[in-house]
Amino acid sequence: MPKKQKPKHKSKSKAKPVRVPRDFKLDDALLRPMFQDDVDAVVAIEEANQEFPWSEGIFRDCIRVGYHCWVFDWQGEVVGFTIMTTAPAQESHILNVCIKPAYQGHGMGSRFVHLLLKLSQHDGAEAAFLEARISNKRAQALYERLGFEKTAIRKDYYPDHNGHEDAMIMTYKFDEKKKGTDAERP
Ligand SMILES: CC(C)(COP(=O)(O)OP(=O)(O)OC[C@H]1O[C@@H](n2cnc3c(N)ncnc32)[C@H](O)[C@@H]1OP(=O)(O)O)[C@@H](O)C(=O)NCCC(=O)NCCS
Repeated sequence: MPKKQKPKHKSKSKAKPVRVPRDFKLDDALLRPMFQDDVDAVVAIEEANQEFPWSEGIFRDCIRVGYHCWVFDWQGEVVGFTIMTTAPAQESHILNVCIKPAYQGHGMGSRFVHLLLKLSQHDGAEAAFLEARISNKRAQALYERLGFEKTAIRKDYYPDHNGHEDAMIMTYKFDEKKKGTDAERP
Protein backbone atom coordinates (compact mmCIF):
# COMPACT_ATOMS: atom_id res chain seq x y z
CA MET A 1 0.00 0.00 0.00
CA PRO A 2 1.28 3.50 -0.61
CA LYS A 3 2.48 5.41 2.37
CA LYS A 4 -0.21 7.23 4.24
CA GLN A 5 -0.31 10.72 2.86
CA LYS A 6 -0.94 12.47 6.15
CA PRO A 7 0.78 10.23 8.65
CA LYS A 8 -1.01 10.80 11.89
CA HIS A 9 -0.25 8.32 14.61
CA LYS A 10 -3.22 6.51 16.04
CA SER A 11 -2.99 3.56 18.34
CA LYS A 12 -4.60 0.34 17.16
CA SER A 13 -8.10 -0.28 18.40
CA LYS A 14 -8.12 -1.67 21.92
CA ALA A 15 -11.52 -3.23 21.35
CA LYS A 16 -11.62 -6.99 21.88
CA PRO A 17 -11.71 -8.69 18.50
CA VAL A 18 -15.08 -10.29 18.04
CA ARG A 19 -15.34 -13.62 16.25
CA VAL A 20 -16.66 -13.88 12.78
CA PRO A 21 -20.38 -14.81 12.97
CA ARG A 22 -20.96 -18.56 12.92
CA ASP A 23 -23.11 -18.33 9.85
CA PHE A 24 -20.52 -16.30 7.90
CA LYS A 25 -19.94 -17.77 4.44
CA LEU A 26 -17.64 -16.05 1.97
CA ASP A 27 -19.89 -16.95 -0.94
CA ASP A 28 -22.82 -15.20 0.75
CA ALA A 29 -20.87 -11.98 1.33
CA LEU A 30 -21.69 -9.32 -1.22
CA LEU A 31 -18.77 -7.93 -3.22
CA ARG A 32 -19.95 -4.49 -4.31
CA PRO A 33 -18.66 -0.99 -5.16
CA MET A 34 -17.87 1.35 -2.26
CA PHE A 35 -20.09 4.40 -1.84
CA GLN A 36 -19.57 7.61 0.12
CA ASP A 37 -22.02 6.24 2.75
CA ASP A 38 -19.59 3.37 3.41
CA VAL A 39 -16.68 5.62 4.31
CA ASP A 40 -17.25 5.71 8.10
CA ALA A 41 -17.21 1.90 8.22
CA VAL A 42 -14.20 1.78 5.92
CA VAL A 43 -12.27 4.25 8.10
CA ALA A 44 -13.08 2.13 11.18
CA ILE A 45 -11.62 -0.97 9.49
CA GLU A 46 -8.55 1.00 8.36
CA GLU A 47 -7.98 2.34 11.88
CA ALA A 48 -8.40 -1.11 13.43
CA ASN A 49 -5.60 -2.42 11.19
CA GLN A 50 -3.17 0.44 10.64
CA GLU A 51 -1.21 2.48 13.11
CA PHE A 52 -0.81 5.24 10.53
CA PRO A 53 -4.21 5.11 8.83
CA TRP A 54 -5.47 6.92 5.77
CA SER A 55 -7.74 9.83 6.58
CA GLU A 56 -11.46 9.89 5.78
CA GLY A 57 -10.74 12.50 3.10
CA ILE A 58 -8.41 10.17 1.20
CA PHE A 59 -11.15 7.53 0.95
CA ARG A 60 -13.72 10.10 -0.15
CA ASP A 61 -11.33 11.38 -2.83
CA CYS A 62 -10.62 7.85 -4.11
CA ILE A 63 -14.36 7.31 -4.70
CA ARG A 64 -14.85 10.80 -6.14
CA VAL A 65 -12.07 10.49 -8.72
CA GLY A 66 -13.31 7.09 -9.86
CA TYR A 67 -10.68 4.69 -8.58
CA HIS A 68 -11.77 1.06 -8.29
CA CYS A 69 -13.21 1.06 -4.75
CA TRP A 70 -14.90 -2.15 -3.54
CA VAL A 71 -16.22 -3.55 -0.30
CA PHE A 72 -17.32 -6.89 1.07
CA ASP A 73 -20.74 -6.46 2.66
CA TRP A 74 -21.91 -9.13 5.11
CA GLN A 75 -25.58 -8.73 5.94
CA GLY A 76 -25.40 -4.95 5.57
CA GLU A 77 -22.08 -4.53 7.40
CA VAL A 78 -18.92 -3.52 5.56
CA VAL A 79 -16.27 -6.06 6.61
CA GLY A 80 -13.47 -5.33 4.14
CA PHE A 81 -12.46 -2.96 1.38
CA THR A 82 -9.99 -2.54 -1.43
CA ILE A 83 -8.87 0.34 -3.67
CA MET A 84 -6.92 0.35 -6.93
CA THR A 85 -6.10 2.77 -9.71
CA THR A 86 -5.23 1.81 -13.29
CA ALA A 87 -3.23 3.53 -16.01
CA PRO A 88 -4.26 1.74 -19.23
CA ALA A 89 -1.38 0.08 -21.15
CA GLN A 90 0.72 0.61 -18.06
CA GLU A 91 0.23 -0.64 -14.53
CA SER A 92 -2.52 -0.97 -12.00
CA HIS A 93 -1.60 0.19 -8.54
CA ILE A 94 -3.30 -1.67 -5.70
CA LEU A 95 -3.53 1.06 -3.08
CA ASN A 96 -5.22 -0.64 -0.16
CA VAL A 97 -6.65 -4.02 0.87
CA CYS A 98 -7.99 -4.28 4.39
CA ILE A 99 -10.26 -6.74 6.17
CA LYS A 100 -11.99 -6.25 9.51
CA PRO A 101 -9.80 -8.19 11.99
CA ALA A 102 -12.43 -10.74 13.04
CA TYR A 103 -13.09 -11.60 9.40
CA GLN A 104 -9.47 -12.15 8.31
CA GLY A 105 -8.44 -15.61 7.16
CA HIS A 106 -11.70 -16.39 5.40
CA GLY A 107 -10.59 -15.69 1.86
CA MET A 108 -11.79 -12.12 1.38
CA GLY A 109 -8.31 -10.69 0.83
CA SER A 110 -7.66 -13.30 -1.88
CA ARG A 111 -11.03 -12.61 -3.51
CA PHE A 112 -10.28 -8.91 -3.60
CA VAL A 113 -6.93 -9.49 -5.29
CA HIS A 114 -8.50 -11.80 -7.90
CA LEU A 115 -11.10 -9.12 -8.61
CA LEU A 116 -8.44 -6.41 -8.94
CA LEU A 117 -6.40 -8.54 -11.34
CA LYS A 118 -9.45 -9.08 -13.52
CA LEU A 119 -10.27 -5.38 -13.49
CA SER A 120 -6.65 -4.57 -14.35
CA GLN A 121 -6.78 -6.88 -17.36
CA HIS A 122 -10.09 -5.40 -18.38
CA ASP A 123 -8.57 -1.91 -18.17
CA GLY A 124 -5.69 -3.04 -20.39
CA ALA A 125 -2.94 -2.87 -17.79
CA GLU A 126 0.21 -4.90 -18.44
CA ALA A 127 0.96 -5.39 -14.77
CA ALA A 128 -0.37 -4.76 -11.30
CA PHE A 129 1.79 -3.71 -8.39
CA LEU A 130 1.53 -2.82 -4.75
CA GLU A 131 3.65 -1.92 -1.76
CA ALA A 132 3.65 -3.87 1.48
CA ARG A 133 5.51 -3.08 4.68
CA ILE A 134 8.68 -5.15 4.88
CA SER A 135 7.38 -6.48 8.21
CA ASN A 136 4.00 -7.52 6.75
CA LYS A 137 4.98 -11.09 5.95
CA ARG A 138 1.41 -12.38 5.92
CA ALA A 139 0.35 -9.97 3.21
CA GLN A 140 3.50 -10.72 1.18
CA ALA A 141 2.86 -14.47 1.43
CA LEU A 142 -0.72 -13.96 0.27
CA TYR A 143 0.35 -11.94 -2.78
CA GLU A 144 3.11 -14.41 -3.67
CA ARG A 145 0.62 -17.25 -3.51
CA LEU A 146 -1.55 -15.33 -5.97
CA GLY A 147 1.31 -14.88 -8.46
CA PHE A 148 2.96 -11.60 -7.44
CA GLU A 149 6.74 -11.36 -7.35
CA LYS A 150 8.92 -9.26 -5.10
CA THR A 151 10.47 -6.76 -7.50
CA ALA A 152 12.11 -3.99 -5.46
CA ILE A 153 12.49 -2.40 -2.07
CA ARG A 154 11.52 1.21 -1.54
CA LYS A 155 13.60 2.61 1.29
CA ASP A 156 11.97 4.43 4.20
CA TYR A 157 8.60 4.44 2.49
CA TYR A 158 6.30 4.10 5.49
CA PRO A 159 6.23 6.03 8.75
CA ASP A 160 6.76 3.94 11.86
CA HIS A 161 7.51 4.54 15.51
CA ASN A 162 11.26 4.53 14.94
CA GLY A 163 11.15 6.80 11.92
CA HIS A 164 10.49 4.86 8.74
CA GLU A 165 10.04 1.36 7.41
CA ASP A 166 10.95 0.05 3.94
CA ALA A 167 8.31 -1.14 1.47
CA MET A 168 8.44 -4.34 -0.56
CA ILE A 169 7.21 -3.69 -4.10
CA MET A 170 5.34 -6.70 -5.49
CA THR A 171 4.34 -7.02 -9.13
CA TYR A 172 2.00 -9.27 -11.12
CA LYS A 173 2.87 -9.30 -14.85
CA PHE A 174 0.01 -10.42 -17.07
CA ASP A 175 2.11 -11.33 -20.12
CA GLU A 176 4.14 -13.79 -18.08
CA LYS A 177 1.11 -15.67 -16.82
CA LYS A 178 -0.29 -18.57 -18.73
CA LYS A 179 -3.91 -18.40 -19.83
CA GLY A 180 -6.25 -19.87 -17.27
CA THR A 181 -4.07 -19.22 -14.24
CA ASP A 182 -4.47 -17.07 -11.17
CA ALA A 183 -6.24 -14.06 -12.62
CA GLU A 184 -8.98 -16.22 -14.07
CA ARG A 185 -10.59 -16.87 -10.70
CA PRO A 186 -13.41 -14.60 -9.53
C1 LIG B 1 -3.56 -9.03 4.44
C2 LIG B 1 -5.10 -9.17 4.45
C3 LIG B 1 -5.70 -8.14 3.50
C4 LIG B 1 -5.45 -10.57 3.97
O1 LIG B 1 -6.88 -10.69 3.96
P1 LIG B 1 -7.58 -12.05 4.40
O2 LIG B 1 -9.02 -11.94 4.08
O3 LIG B 1 -7.21 -12.38 5.78
O4 LIG B 1 -6.86 -13.02 3.37
P2 LIG B 1 -7.28 -14.52 3.01
O5 LIG B 1 -8.24 -15.04 3.99
O6 LIG B 1 -7.64 -14.53 1.59
O7 LIG B 1 -5.91 -15.27 3.17
C5 LIG B 1 -5.18 -15.09 4.39
C6 LIG B 1 -4.97 -16.42 5.07
O8 LIG B 1 -6.18 -17.05 5.43
C7 LIG B 1 -6.20 -18.38 4.90
N1 LIG B 1 -7.58 -18.66 4.56
C8 LIG B 1 -8.21 -18.36 3.42
N2 LIG B 1 -9.48 -18.79 3.47
C9 LIG B 1 -9.65 -19.35 4.70
C10 LIG B 1 -10.74 -19.95 5.37
N3 LIG B 1 -11.93 -20.10 4.78
N4 LIG B 1 -10.56 -20.39 6.64
C11 LIG B 1 -9.39 -20.23 7.24
N5 LIG B 1 -8.30 -19.68 6.65
C12 LIG B 1 -8.44 -19.25 5.39
C13 LIG B 1 -5.32 -18.30 3.73
O9 LIG B 1 -4.79 -19.58 3.40
C14 LIG B 1 -4.24 -17.39 4.24
O10 LIG B 1 -3.34 -18.11 5.05
P3 LIG B 1 -2.21 -17.41 5.92
O11 LIG B 1 -2.78 -17.29 7.30
O12 LIG B 1 -1.07 -18.36 5.85
O13 LIG B 1 -1.93 -16.06 5.33
C15 LIG B 1 -5.68 -9.01 5.89
O14 LIG B 1 -4.97 -9.84 6.75
C16 LIG B 1 -5.62 -7.58 6.40
O15 LIG B 1 -6.56 -6.81 6.23
N6 LIG B 1 -4.52 -7.23 7.06
C17 LIG B 1 -4.36 -5.89 7.63
C18 LIG B 1 -4.15 -4.85 6.55
C19 LIG B 1 -3.03 -5.25 5.63
O16 LIG B 1 -1.97 -5.69 6.07
N7 LIG B 1 -3.29 -5.10 4.33
C20 LIG B 1 -2.34 -5.45 3.30
C21 LIG B 1 -1.35 -4.38 3.12
S1 LIG B 1 -0.19 -4.77 1.83
